[in-house]
Amino acid sequence: MSKKGATEIYQPGKEFSKKARISSMAQYRRLWRESIDQPEKFWAREASELSWKQPWKEVLDWKAPDAKWFVGGKLNVCENCVDRHAFGERRNKAAIIFEGEPGDRRTITYSQLHREVCQFANVLLARGVKAKDRVLIYMPMIPEAVIAMLACARIGAVHSVVFGGFSAESISDRLADSGAAHIVTADGGWRRGKIVPLKENVDEAIAKNKAIQSVIVFRRTGQEIAMKKGRDHWWHELAATASAKHEAKAFDSEHPLFILYTSGSTGKPKGILHTSGGYLTGTYTTCKYIFDMRDDDVYWCTADVGWITGHSYIAYGPLAMGVTQVIYEGAPNQPDFGRFWQMIEEHRVSIFYTAPTAIRAFIKAGDNFVEKHDLSSLRLLGSVGEPINPEAWRWYHRKIGGGRCPIVDTWWQTETGAIMISPLPGATPTEPGTATLPFFGIDAAVLDDYGKEVKANEQGRLVIRKPWPSMTRTIYGDKARFKKTYWSDYPGIYTAGDSARRDKDGNFWIIGRLDDVLNVSGHRLGTAEVESALVSHKAVAEAAVVGRPDDLKGQAVVAFVTLKKGFDPSPALQSELRNHVGKVIGAIAKPDDLHFAPALPKTRSGKIIRRLLKELVTTGTVTGNITTLEDFSVIEQLQNSIKGG
Ligand code: WT7
Repeated sequence: MSKKGATEIYQPGKEFSKKARISSMAQYRRLWRESIDQPEKFWAREASELSWKQPWKEVLDWKAPDAKWFVGGKLNVCENCVDRHAFGERRNKAAIIFEGEPGDRRTITYSQLHREVCQFANVLLARGVKAKDRVLIYMPMIPEAVIAMLACARIGAVHSVVFGGFSAESISDRLADSGAAHIVTADGGWRRGKIVPLKENVDEAIAKNKAIQSVIVFRRTGQEIAMKKGRDHWWHELAATASAKHEAKAFDSEHPLFILYTSGSTGKPKGILHTSGGYLTGTYTTCKYIFDMRDDDVYWCTADVGWITGHSYIAYGPLAMGVTQVIYEGAPNQPDFGRFWQMIEEHRVSIFYTAPTAIRAFIKAGDNFVEKHDLSSLRLLGSVGEPINPEAWRWYHRKIGGGRCPIVDTWWQTETGAIMISPLPGATPTEPGTATLPFFGIDAAVLDDYGKEVKANEQGRLVIRKPWPSMTRTIYGDKARFKKTYWSDYPGIYTAGDSARRDKDGNFWIIGRLDDVLNVSGHRLGTAEVESALVSHKAVAEAAVVGRPDDLKGQAVVAFVTLKKGFDPSPALQSELRNHVGKVIGAIAKPDDLHFAPALPKTRSGKIIRRLLKELVTTGTVTGNITTLEDFSVIEQLQNSIKGG
């Protein structure tokens, strides 16, 4: 890559471009134009590279906001990710190279993956799981998490993966919303040298839940756990008697594949529903063009399967491509900050996909952890989750990519299912901080309040104007919220909830969320969720939560709390409340700062003015418009309490 011009523009390297599927901007522009003029033609061509048991009759049935893709087509998603490779030339190719945090290793070939997935599919069937039944998966980052997902897909069950860092209450909320009666979990997982007590959390979540029919427990950490007779079963015991043969049946292209919960601007997480044919087409196609995956690549995405990145770019897209991928269980700094680089060196990783927050943590830890390792196997780097700050971009490019690897800064969301805006590594000139241009078939734009496209460099709302195959079909059980959240700003147009601008070359610069949602270490967190967790504590009368810019996490969580009569502010109560949030939601939601306040700034109608709190935690003072404020002295008191720490 070379730097050119007054602005900092990086061109794709010649060698990379020569071999890439899309090797010039002219080629990108031609194909993109075609894909926008005739999206159905583009997506049908891509989808036809997958294996269908029954061809579709119609590519798209679109009655906004309801999309049906590949109507009448039937396929099995799992078969596409596993069987297609397990019975062909890739049968003995490594599908998964696994490293546990303590250092244990396993390599699973496509043929072995097929056996394991079939066996677990038979286990689920024997437990009475049927097509469309929801199965909650709460696992460490081990191959069995992916195996469980694929096994669900194979039998048409709908998985709902809950991030292993979430708490018992998060599990029970998601169980209640999804109506899952089966849970797949592990005794525990390794994180920073400690055991995350997964089964214990499940037990707590379902203590009073009589609807749970089975809990299947994979033995990972080996400590003593409680097993409830009749309900709880060991994975290895059930698998021992299950056949490793299972013929994949075809499901409708619109058959539900999974629900994944994500934060919104109310306290209740949204169950984002994805379906089969379109989702697989989207994840497969983006892996092909954006990661330019090849048969000799070793790909590693450091996300957890509990997030959408782990669904689309660990479980489904890469396996549909038949690539070899690395899966790592633990923390990036275990035993030290050299772990990732050592793994890249050892497994000869060629494509590496991670998050800006991780990159910033590595920068902070120091270059010596990187410099010890040979990273020459890398050829392509990816970033996801939040805008990547130019400093982190440059470090990633220089220190990790050796100046030779293109970086794809990929913008997308749980709802979009697949990457929407990203450079194509062999074609797109990039500049640190921009996700650049829309992917094929993606009609992204930035609009003003009236639905007009804004001028170059003006800020507006990021939207997508045409349907795309991997788009979410609904919020599970809440069509009204689905319509209101994504489809009510402009008729027939998807609103992402992000603000953005485009520069004169059309590159998209993502600015941030428009709603009351924070981005903490690349993960979405609703301020309302944290507030409702705080208010559920007996001492709390009222709470307001805002984000503060943070060097490592992107945004830090700041809470303002007023106490009920009879409770007094104290450091002990402060830490009790922080831990309480951790217990209700999970560690990522614990407020970084928690201020006790005698009152919160409110409008005359009683609405908390978060805008003022945000300004206060960002700049230390309030200069903005406060004319709507009901009680002016509140601000002064808050300013003092912030200064006081
Ligand atoms: C939100 C989606 C997509 C997988 C991980 C997060 C932000 C995501 C980028 C990027 C700037 C980004 C947006 C988006 N975001 N990628 N490359 N540049 N912002 O998935 O939890 O659904 O969050 O993450 O704000 O709306 P998610």
